[in-house]
Amino acid sequence: MKRILFIVGSLREGSFNRQLAREAEQMIGLRAKVTYLDYTNVPLINQDIEFPEPEAVGRLRATVKEADGIWVFTPEYNFSYPGHVKNLFDWLSRPVVANDYETPTVINGKKVALSGAGGKMATAKCREKLTELLTFLKADVMEPQTGIALNVEAWTEGRMILSDEQKVALKNQVEAFLKIV
Ligand SMILES: Cc1cc2nc3c(=O)[nH]c(=O)nc-3n(C[C@H](O)[C@H](O)[C@H](O)COP(=O)(O)O)c2cc1C
Repeated sequence: MKRILFIVGSLREGSFNRQLAREAEQMIGLRAKVTYLDYTNVPLINQDIEFPEPEAVGRLRATVKEADGIWVFTPEYNFSYPGHVKNLFDWLSRPVVANDYETPTVINGKKVALSGAGGKMATAKCREKLTELLTFLKADVMEPQTGIALNVEAWTEGRMILSDEQKVALKNQVEAFLKIV
């Protein structure tokens, strides 16, 4: 069975992006094994502690390596992606052995899907910049992406209810991703 690693780019308990990930997980059902990345212990990137790799970074790399695809669900922070999301990809961009730039990183060639729930622009700027970053890291960013512009009820009640149109968009992304992983 294919393994898909979900990365939720929000640390917030009631995160709408986590809710979106759960919707996608339900749509995937038993067709792939979905796991959520726990990156709480991944330190901030610091070249002083790169080698030997910190334990949490080793776990991060191993988890990414064994995944057939990665799906990032992230909020947009100030027209970009959150700093802790960048931190993960900064670690994943680095060699495991000092000065070994020959061995491909675990993110190189990885199939990545992007989605996000946020304000009016439905995280378009965030996904644009994340696409640029991941392309630079030689990941394979797939289309379509799903952007959810949260409605008033979501903001007031803390619960995201997808419209039929949004459900179709997410379902299309699920089907497209399952085809390529
Ligand atoms: C530092 C910060 C910057 C933000 N900037 C944006 C932004 O540029 N665009 C946007 O749509 N929402 C922005 N927001 C609002 C988030 O979209 C909103 O808080 C959203 O609920 C976060 O996702 P989550 O529910 O998964 O935590 C920002 C929030 C924070 C904390």
